[in-house]
Amino acid sequence: MEKKLAELKTILAEITDLGQASAILGWDQQTYMPRGAAEARGNQQALLGRLIQEWSTSPKLGKLLDQLKPYAESLDPDSDDARLIQVSARDFAKATCVPTEFVVEFTKVTTAANQAWVEARQKSDFSIFRPHLEKIVGLRRRYAGFFPEAGHPYDALLDDFEPGMKTDDVKAIFTALRPQQVELIKAIGAKPQVDDSFLRQPFDEKKQWDFGVEVITKFGYDWNHGRQDKAPHPFTTAFGYTDVRITTRVDPNFLNPMLFGTMHECGHALHGLGFAPALDRTGLDGSASLAIGESQSRLWENLVGRSLPFWQHFYPRLQEHFPSQVGNVPLEKFYKGINRVQPSLIRVEADEATYNLHIMLRLEVEIAVIEGKLAVKDLPEYWNTKMQEYLGMTPPNDAAGVLQDIHWSFGAFGYFSTYALGNLVSAQLWEMINRDIPDLADHVRAGKFESLLVWLREKIHRHGRKFKPQELMQKVAGSKIDPAPYVRYLRTKYSEIYGL
Ligand code: CO
Repeated sequence: MEKKLAELKTILAEITDLGQASAILGWDQQTYMPRGAAEARGNQQALLGRLIQEWSTSPKLGKLLDQLKPYAESLDPDSDDARLIQVSARDFAKATCVPTEFVVEFTKVTTAANQAWVEARQKSDFSIFRPHLEKIVGLRRRYAGFFPEAGHPYDALLDDFEPGMKTDDVKAIFTALRPQQVELIKAIGAKPQVDDSFLRQPFDEKKQWDFGVEVITKFGYDWNHGRQDKAPHPFTTAFGYTDVRITTRVDPNFLNPMLFGTMHECGHALHGLGFAPALDRTGLDGSASLAIGESQSRLWENLVGRSLPFWQHFYPRLQEHFPSQVGNVPLEKFYKGINRVQPSLIRVEADEATYNLHIMLRLEVEIAVIEGKLAVKDLPEYWNTKMQEYLGMTPPNDAAGVLQDIHWSFGAFGYFSTYALGNLVSAQLWEMINRDIPDLADHVRAGKFESLLVWLREKIHRHGRKFKPQELMQKVAGSKIDPAPYVRYLRTKYSEIYGL
C-alpha cells in the first residue's frame, strides 16, 4: 500500500505542477504580457488545461484511489494521508461525472457570453446578454443533473465552491441575518452622515504604493516568497506555498482601492504562504473553500485594517506620506470616514454593513433561476424590485443593476454567497482570536501582528483543503458558520461610529 500511496502522490504532484505552470501563465497574462500575445497564450493555456483534465480523470488515478480506499479507512481519519486519499477521491468523482463534450460546450458558450456581457454592460442593454444567459442557465441546470444525489439542483453548483454546503444551510444563515442587517442600516440612516470627502482627492501613486507595502510588510508578508504588481482587477495567485504573489490597483484620486485592496490581497497571500509544507504538491495545498479563503482576506482588510487600533498605529505614518491631504484630518474623523455606511447600487463599492444584502439578492435570483421559477427575461425587473426592498434604491439602468457583475457570464452560479459567508467567518474567527489573545488590540496598536498570524496559521492556514469548510469551523470555532458574531461586530462598531 505504501507503494501505491507513493504512486498516487507522484501523480498528484505532477497535476499540481501543471496547474501551477498554468497559473504562472495566467499571472503573466494579467500583469505583463503584451496584448498581441493573447492568441499564443490561449494555445498554451488550452494545452495545459487539456492535460490537467486528462490526468485528473485518468483510469489509472481512479484505480489507485479505489485500491487505497480501505487503506485510508485504516488510518487516523484526520491524518494527512487519509484526508489526501479521501479528498482526491472526491475530486476525481466530481471530475469524472461531467462528460468532456459538456465541458467543451460550456467553454464555448461562456466565451461568447463573456463578450456579449461586456457589450451589454457598455450599452446598458440586457437584451444583448439575455440569449447567452439563457443558454448558461440551461447548461448549469444540466450540470446539476450530473449529480442526481444532490437534494436540490443548486446544491451541486454550491458544492464546487463550498464543499459539503447545502442550499438550505445558506438560506437559513441569510434568513437569520437579513432582518438584523436591514434594521441596523435603517438605524444608521436615521443618524447624521459622517464625512469621507478627504478620501477622494489626488494622492501620489508612488506614495500610495509605498504606504501599502509598509503595511503588509508589518502584517508579515514575506517578500522572499512573494511580490506585488499592478493589475486592473487585483487578485492573488499561488504557485505552491513558497511563491504567493499579489496584485493591487492604485487610483490617483481615491485612497481606498489601494489601501484596502492591498490588505485584502495580502490576507489571501498569508493564507497561501501558510499551508503545511507536508501538503505541498498534493492538491490539498489550497483553501478549504472560497468562504474560508475570503474570510482571511476580509479579516485583514476589515477586522484589522478598518479598526481604530490599526489606525492608532498607522495614521501618523499615513499623515507623513500625505500631509496636505490628511495632515489636518483628526484620527477619529479619518476612522469614521473609512467606515462610512451608505447604501449603494454597486456590490464591489459596498461598505461592511450593506455588502451582504447585495449577496442575498444574488442568491435569491440564482436559486429562483436554477429552480426554473424565474425566467431570465424577467430578471432585470426582479432585480430592481429586490434592490428597492433591500437597499431602498432602484438602479437607473441595467448596467448599474443586473448587468454589473461579470460572474454569470463565466457561468459561475453558486459563487456569490461565498463572499458573504467569508464575512461571517471572519467575524466568527475574530471573536475566538480575541478570546485566545486578550491583548490583541494592544499588539495591533503597536503595529505587531505576529500573534495574530501565528493563530491563523495554526488554526486555519496549515490545514489547506484537508477539511470541508463546515468541518473546519466546527473544529476551530466549535460551531458551524454562524451569523451572530458578524451582527455583534457590526452593532458594536457602528453604534460607536454613528452614536446609535
Ligand atoms: Co478576495
